[in-house]
Amino acid sequence: MRFGENFMDELKSRVRPSDVVGRYVKLKRQGREYAGLSPFTNEKTPSFFVNDEKGFYHCFSSGKHGDAISFLMEVEGLSFPEAVERLAGLAGMEMPKSDPRAEERARANKQTISWMERAQEFFAKSLMREAGAEARAYLKDRGLTRTAAEAFGIGYAPDSFDALRGELLQQGADDAKLIEAGLLIKPEQSGKNPWDRFRNRIMFPIHDARGRLIAFGGRALSKEQKAKYLNSPETPIFQKGQVLYNYPKARKALAAPNNSRRGLIVCEGYMDVIAMVRAGFPEAVAPLGTALTEMQLDLLWRAGDAPILCFDGDKAGLRAAYRSVERALPLLKPGRTLWFALLPDGQDPDDLLRAKGAAALQEVLDAARPLVDMVWQGELAKSPLKTPEDKAGLKERLMQASFQIAHDGVAKEYRTALLNKFDAAYGWKAGQKHGGGQRRPQRADPVLVQTMKPDAMQAARERRLVGAVLQWPGILDFIDERFFSLNFSGAGLNDLRDCVESLYISRKAVDKQALHAHIEAQGLSGPLRVLVRERTVLTAAMGGKQADLAQRAALWIDEADTQEGRRQTDAARTEGINRMADALRSGNSEAMKRLMRADKASRN
Ligand code: UTP
Ligand code: MN
Repeated sequence: MRFGENFMDELKSRVRPSDVVGRYVKLKRQGREYAGLSPFTNEKTPSFFVNDEKGFYHCFSSGKHGDAISFLMEVEGLSFPEAVERLAGLAGMEMPKSDPRAEERARANKQTISWMERAQEFFAKSLMREAGAEARAYLKDRGLTRTAAEAFGIGYAPDSFDALRGELLQQGADDAKLIEAGLLIKPEQSGKNPWDRFRNRIMFPIHDARGRLIAFGGRALSKEQKAKYLNSPETPIFQKGQVLYNYPKARKALAAPNNSRRGLIVCEGYMDVIAMVRAGFPEAVAPLGTALTEMQLDLLWRAGDAPILCFDGDKAGLRAAYRSVERALPLLKPGRTLWFALLPDGQDPDDLLRAKGAAALQEVLDAARPLVDMVWQGELAKSPLKTPEDKAGLKERLMQASFQIAHDGVAKEYRTALLNKFDAAYGWKAGQKHGGGQRRPQRADPVLVQTMKPDAMQAARERRLVGAVLQWPGILDFIDERFFSLNFSGAGLNDLRDCVESLYISRKAVDKQALHAHIEAQGLSGPLRVLVRERTVLTAAMGGKQADLAQRAALWIDEADTQEGRRQTDAARTEGINRMADALRSGNSEAMKRLMRADKASRN
């Protein structure tokens, strides 16, 4: 009996391997794994490990390795369906009824696949025949030997409307089946015969994750042909967003014990993959002419934690890279990331390999950038960074990007890393670290100009300005007058401000508890709660957990400036801010207030 993918996924997500193994082996937590004495040998020191994140156990003394199901098969001597049933019992899941329609579908798919295989044999044969002479010359011209063509199952679809059809009908196929397989095109008028979809094209067989031949990509031989590449249409066995070219072999190569790469290498086209494999990069795969889908990212991560995506270093390539960044962010997990290798202008891996060889490509891979750098670079590129408003906008976008990440721990690390980058480039600390001299901010790439929603940005900024005071009332010593003079449009914010002011004026020093109690007593617990709920974001935006009050105050002033729409293009003003930051940093609040007064005067 076969089980549906959904059922198996659900089952695996409900039962952790350690739950199952833990019934047979006493397990002790060791970091991310559990360790115990091997149930397969008589060992005295634990060399048996279970990793729930990766979903497997590994036994170093016996070399056995597998998931919860294979563990049950092993220790209980169960068959696969029996083990699944046992596991489903543990998970409290109903066993799926055997579905006669699904079984019928599985049988039909098997047939389709076998016709795909016959088609490939026909294409391969055609490449070697008289009619394939031009195709052979083309391949030779692109540096592909006969052995290489054979290794990739490359063939040739003759320049004919019925060559493949004739051959396969003779072998016992019927038109309906070949149409379903995407090999023939169905005529719109009834009465006409279907005809071959692929004509006068070099044919690349495409396999699914399990190695089954499910589609073809066909490259035009002549420039007059409409599409340079024509792929199989979507069929019951082929959804192009779920497949990566060369995946099964690449995954196997990556899993080889002597392979030290941390993930697959993704390039853009079939010819790139072939060139990569031949140049000694057998881990190469490619999507089928579209941006990476979530399913494809998932396939990549199943093979290895840190795939490298190769993109052309030009504008279109960068744009494609940023699309992958957006796709990937929500899916990140601890240890599971992407790297980005940008190729020299206008070249794909195939071009680069032909021009400069494997060492040059390895260099490009070695220079790959981590995903977090791409986020930074991408956001940096979205708008100019001349004014403080621009910079605040950048910071805002960096935070937004981190919120795309579903995994809390990873999201937090991104916030820290991105804010550090921001500080290094634009923060008030910038330029002070390495013996003075303002460090030159990185130049933004003029790609992907995108507009933020100004309203949402302003509302969030207002909440930060008030929220920061509620969270760290001590900063009032630096910013009291400024805060009390601000005007907010968000609900309840002006009331909160007034509430703070009344307490501050009567007490001078306020502590957080007293302040919050006072606010609640004034009937403002609603807006207070909204702001308190956002304190994680707030902390991230206001210098992180470690920042001291002076640092937070400097950031606060920066935000307030943005809020009031002050233009700070002139050098004197920037200089003023820098001196303010200095004063803040040294904790000299008197100097700070003096500077602020001067600043205020200069604006009037
Ligand atoms: P490219 O146009 O970058 O081609 O398409 P390439 O891989 O460099 O091919 P050569 O070197 O000119 O032969 C990259 C991939 O995009 C898909 C194919 O999967 C191709 O491998 N594609 C491209 C299409 O599906 N249709 C097209 O018309 C073009
Ligand atoms: Mn190319």
